[in-house]
Amino acid sequence: MLLTQQHYTIVAMATLSHTSSLLFFARLSGLAVAVLVVFWALAFKSSFLSPSLSQQDLIYAVLHPLLMVIGFILLSGEAILVHRWLPGSRGLKKLVHLWLQGVALSCGIFGIWTKFQGNDGIVANFFSLHSWMGLVCVSLFGAQWLIGFMNFWHRGEVRTVRIRILPWHVFLGLYTYALAIATAETGLLEKLTFLQTKRNLPRHSTESMVVNSLGLGLALLSGFVILAAVSPKYHTIQNKLLYSDTKCLSS
Ligand code: HEM
Repeated sequence: MLLTQQHYTIVAMATLSHTSSLLFFARLSGLAVAVLVVFWALAFKSSFLSPSLSQQDLIYAVLHPLLMVIGFILLSGEAILVHRWLPGSRGLKKLVHLWLQGVALSCGIFGIWTKFQGNDGIVANFFSLHSWMGLVCVSLFGAQWLIGFMNFWHRGEVRTVRIRILPWHVFLGLYTYALAIATAETGLLEKLTFLQTKRNLPRHSTESMVVNSLGLGLALLSGFVILAAVSPKYHTIQNKLLYSDTKCLSS
């Protein structure tokens, strides 16, 4: 069957509206997540305070979820989406992608550093699944950023090497992002369990609902971001159609 200009327009419009809806829902759930984590940190400050903690320690305790959720997760999600919405050259997209991922990584490192500031010292907290996953996640993210920087931004690399590495870059990027979401979920669960068992926080309290909604928001957000990232781009579909069109014409 010969594909007409009308077919291209229909497919192009469907792809664009599909991507725009995914971007819209990703931003909406991202906004909800940001509002919920800020609200939790401001309205339930006492949950982050313990008798042995000073005012400065409270700031570090509150900064950890804020930096990890807004700085690390939301920014790295936005960096993943850059290739889906930012107009302009490939070079510009790569530059924005690299910068956003760099800021996200800095927030991640700073967010973990806040946990080293307690009285108990560096190794004292490294007993939990959350802390182990967090270390693996930020280390992978750092390695991925360095490799990405050298292969995509550094002009010295050969093009064939860059093309061969691209699928691994995409896989590792999405895997690390999913790991960051899973780590945040374990952090929320750990904190909430601590509050419910040690501080007698009622299971149906407003704070429990806020934390549960935050966890749900993160799960939704990651779904939209990953789906937008793996959905075929408009240009890929256009090329495939052109290819099948030429095949039809030549046969
Ligand atoms: C991508 C997101 C996150 C990463 C990579 C991460 C990473 C880490 C790491 C590496 C530690 C251990 C630091 C130390 O013990 O000195 C830690 C501790 C902690 N985190 Fe997170 N975190 C994340 C999100 C969250 C969130 C959203 C919360 C919610 C409150 C949270 C709560 C905690 C708590 C209570 C601790 C101290 C207890 C423990 O070590 O398990 N984290 N985090």
